[in-house]
Amino acid sequence: MKKIKLKGMGFYAPEKVLSNQDFEKMVDTSDEWIITRSGIRNRHVVSPEQATSDLALQASIEALKQAGLKAEDLDLIVVGTSSPDMIFPSVGCLIAEQLHAPRPMAFDVSAGCSGFLYSLSVAEQYLRTGKYHNALVLGADCISRFTDYTDRSTCVLFGDGAGALVLANEDQGDDFILDSINGTDPYGSSKLTLPGGGSRKPASAETLVQRDHFIKMNGKDIFKFATRISETLINEILHKNHLSKDDIRWYAFHQANIRIIDSAVDRLGLSKNQVMITLDEYGNTSSASVPMSLYQYAQQGKLNKGDLVLMVVFGAGLTYAASLVRWQL
Ligand code: ACO
Repeated sequence: MKKIKLKGMGFYAPEKVLSNQDFEKMVDTSDEWIITRSGIRNRHVVSPEQATSDLALQASIEALKQAGLKAEDLDLIVVGTSSPDMIFPSVGCLIAEQLHAPRPMAFDVSAGCSGFLYSLSVAEQYLRTGKYHNALVLGADCISRFTDYTDRSTCVLFGDGAGALVLANEDQGDDFILDSINGTDPYGSSKLTLPGGGSRKPASAETLVQRDHFIKMNGKDIFKFATRISETLINEILHKNHLSKDDIRWYAFHQANIRIIDSAVDRLGLSKNQVMITLDEYGNTSSASVPMSLYQYAQQGKLNKGDLVLMVVFGAGLTYAASLVRWQL
């Protein structure tokens, strides 16, 4: 089996910012409620002419540049997203077109907010076996496009963005990916849905009236699932790899709600200095939240070569995933 190498990373957040004060003018809410209940202050949202592939493209260009690779070197593009530009073609194919990548296997992975870690795991298998050599792996979402801005319980939570990694395989040397767990709670599918526009409820006058093209979420149940699964995943991956909680330099949690993260920190006895927080500025960017956090912390010089990073996510499905990596940039 080959070794996986991290070669480059990229990031994109749209310019437009929606603050808590903006939401005070849109729905019956307050800055104080949003900060206390979620930890979010701002979120970046796309302009009318932008879509998910535009965000993903910018992050991809930056990641390829850092990796020193050209689009023609790519043989695999995997995009974790639940908000593709359209049902088909995939965001992966749209980026391949924009990058002029002549021959990649390109596709999307739909796993809610777990999309990036699922994609990382899929790419890992192709690189490990030597089937492919250079992969672009993304988390990219424009959840603002599917957010009901009249529903105060969901609209304050989500933002848009993209994060990209370029991975390659080599015969020798250290491994970037040390371990991963991916799974699904098969009884949680109704907890977080976007019911309209698929084959069960294709777009119609009725789906418009029922606001079926927007996210429907049972926040309380997801909250409970998220706190439970985050703790379980961390304990399991630490145990499997004979690590203690203090061996991990950074815990990169899905940035959904500060209270979910705080709960894991308290239950596991982690130090707050080990935990990446970007939700205050970007909100929940779904699949993009973990790669955007990695990028921000690397840019700020806080995430460095050799650091052990444990990424932990959950999302619609209900899906969950964790990946243990040793940072190589
Ligand atoms: N402003 C003011 N009041 C609000 C708001 C708001 N924005 N939203 C809800 N409320 C009200 C509710 O109406 C309710 O009022 P009531 O008591 O009169 O009925 C009250 O606040 C309490 O509501 P709860 O739902 O109990 O609030 P809670 O503390 O659970 O927080 C939240 C809600 C933030 C949604 C939380 O449950 C949460 O974060 N859940 C996890 C959601 C999540 O992680 N989703 C992403 C999944 S990942 C993916 O795949 C996209």
